[in-house]
Amino acid sequence: MTDAVQTPSSAGQFTKRVFSGIKPSGGLTLGNYLGAIKRFVDMQSPEFETVYCVVDLHAITVWQDPSELKTATREVAAGYLASGIDPTKSILFNQSQVSQHAELGWIFNCVTRVGWMNRMTQFKDKAGANSENVSLGLYAYPSLMAADILLYHATHVPVGDDQKQHVELTRDIASKFNHDFKADFFPLCEPVIEGPAMRIMNLRDGTKKMSKSGESDMERINMTDDADKIAKKFKKAKTDPEALPETLEGLKGRPEARNLIDIYAALSDQTSEAVIKEYAGAGWGRFKPALADLAVDKLAPISTEMSRYMDDPAEIDRILADGAARARAIAAPILDKTYEIVGLLK
Ligand code: TRP
Repeated sequence: MTDAVQTPSSAGQFTKRVFSGIKPSGGLTLGNYLGAIKRFVDMQSPEFETVYCVVDLHAITVWQDPSELKTATREVAAGYLASGIDPTKSILFNQSQVSQHAELGWIFNCVTRVGWMNRMTQFKDKAGANSENVSLGLYAYPSLMAADILLYHATHVPVGDDQKQHVELTRDIASKFNHDFKADFFPLCEPVIEGPAMRIMNLRDGTKKMSKSGESDMERINMTDDADKIAKKFKKAKTDPEALPETLEGLKGRPEARNLIDIYAALSDQTSEAVIKEYAGAGWGRFKPALADLAVDKLAPISTEMSRYMDDPAEIDRILADGAARARAIAAPILDKTYEIVGLLK
């Protein structure tokens, strides 16, 4: 049974396996697409085995309306699929269908130290002054995230900058487990982090991250926005009166301008340097329509495809169930071996 489980001593000896996840809480934005999904699609290659998850157990660390949670879970799955995650190349599933995540999460709750959790900056940001009143699950969230990754012996974890600390914690949990049980079992995974340029900012305030929960719909691009909406939002995006400079340094102190250049770069697979060079001296009257056209070109087909999937929830459910079965086939022997190492009687 456990023969299928790899037990070499460093990540280098493992099959290269990618794991990442997106929470189904609210809708998907351009930030999710450029910062996560697009990169997940690019990693689908013969070099890697790719496992992508809709992390519904993470979403419920804050209260979710049950029927909206189901819709949001399908919407994230539709977003993955419409963007090019191919269920024949990748394993795509929702976390709660593979119960081993929760089981390994518990074991890791017993490995992780409270002091480590207290250093998690995202928890401090999210809980804020309300830290006595948030769920215990929100506090333990990074330990479940470690379980997500290590349940597959994943070696590469593409995440945004804000998740780097959680991936480092995952390495600490793997090391402590290996040390405590004198078992060379869990690999030390690598975060795969794109530069800060990948932080997509709010279209009305370039100092704030583009979020799905902001008050005005004009401040974000939703992955479900149609061509007209996408064009309108970019044309109305906040800018400043100046023309574009010749270099990126010239954008210092102009966060909205910088954000639009970065978005153009990410959508066209170029560096921001190349974009500013091309548009040096251009006014917004030239740059904004170009950006709107590019965005419509790249994003409208995805939103059309997403709504096609959303019209066929049974098809999404079938893909997720199939992915869950394939995920379980990897996860179950790894959890069995973990139980054996810990001394849990079967
Ligand atoms: N915590 C991640 C986020 O908020 C989502 C996530 C959960 C995740 N489990 C993961 C990401 C495992 C990468 C790997 O974005």
